[in-house]
Amino acid sequence: MSDTTSQTRVAVITGAGRGIGEGCARAFLEQGFAVVIAEKESSLGLKLESELGLKARFIKTDVTNASSVEHLISQTIAKFGRIDVVINNAGRNKRTPLLEISQNDWEDGILLNLSSVFLMCRAAMPELIKTKGSIVNVSSLVGLQGQAEAVVYSAAKGGVIALSKTLALDFAPLGVRVNCICPGDIWTPQYSEWLTEQADGAAMLGSINARLPVGRLGTTLETAQAILFLATNGFANGVILTLDGGKSIG
Ligand SMILES: NC(=O)c1ccc[n+]([C@@H]2O[C@H](COP(=O)([O-])OP(=O)(O)OC[C@H]3O[C@@H](n4cnc5c(N)ncnc54)[C@H](O)[C@@H]3O)[C@@H](O)[C@H]2O)c1
Repeated sequence: MSDTTSQTRVAVITGAGRGIGEGCARAFLEQGFAVVIAEKESSLGLKLESELGLKARFIKTDVTNASSVEHLISQTIAKFGRIDVVINNAGRNKRTPLLEISQNDWEDGILLNLSSVFLMCRAAMPELIKTKGSIVNVSSLVGLQGQAEAVVYSAAKGGVIALSKTLALDFAPLGVRVNCICPGDIWTPQYSEWLTEQADGAAMLGSINARLPVGRLGTTLETAQAILFLATNGFANGVILTLDGGKSIG
């Protein structure tokens, strides 16, 4: 049964157990939203749920699985009674050169980084129409510009941008806004893991910072603030927001 007043806005955030998704959970909670931590790793989801308190709920979710996504939406309605914002954030960049990519690798990468966004949008849209809510899809600068050896990821994130524009056109007349953020380099566990895998991660981080016009990586809080803006500004629709410290113009 719903145990939050129907006036409380509800944000569903995929991949919210850590990184940018966790930043979003904190930022939306601070703005008075109830938040659903839609995360496949139970240890991460449960830890954040217990830290954030009663207005946060972990629902174990695998965004690559249609039944799991349907369960997420039905459980959110059972718990909170409404959905106002969906943030499609779960994703992973696994760089592999073309000639080393099997068809399974391709399909797995597209499933996680693109099809999951379709599954979430399709499942949540009827609820968002009721609340005149909004969706923010997390793409990447890589989806706009490409990246060496990011064959699957760049194709998927480019698809997220095109999907976001199309849904923005289709659903604005029904009151649902759809926007997309393209972060550049953001310091998250995934980014840190990638650096650790490099031959000299510390030197590489130094040279990445030096090449960024602002001189440093972005934070999860800065990214979450931009997502919050897109989710809540009533005139923002079909926006593809680059948040990269000036990397793409430098
Ligand atoms: N960090 C960056 O520099 C950067 C830049 C551009 C775009 N992005 C995008 O931002 C998003 C978040 O990235 P991050 O760096 O915070 O990643 P992260 O790996 O640190 O966090 C991602 C979270 O998603 C969860 N997750 C993964 N697969 C899932 C699934 N199938 N179902 C549910 N949850 C799942 C993970 O368990 C993890 O908690 C991704 O879509 C990524 O592509 C990140």
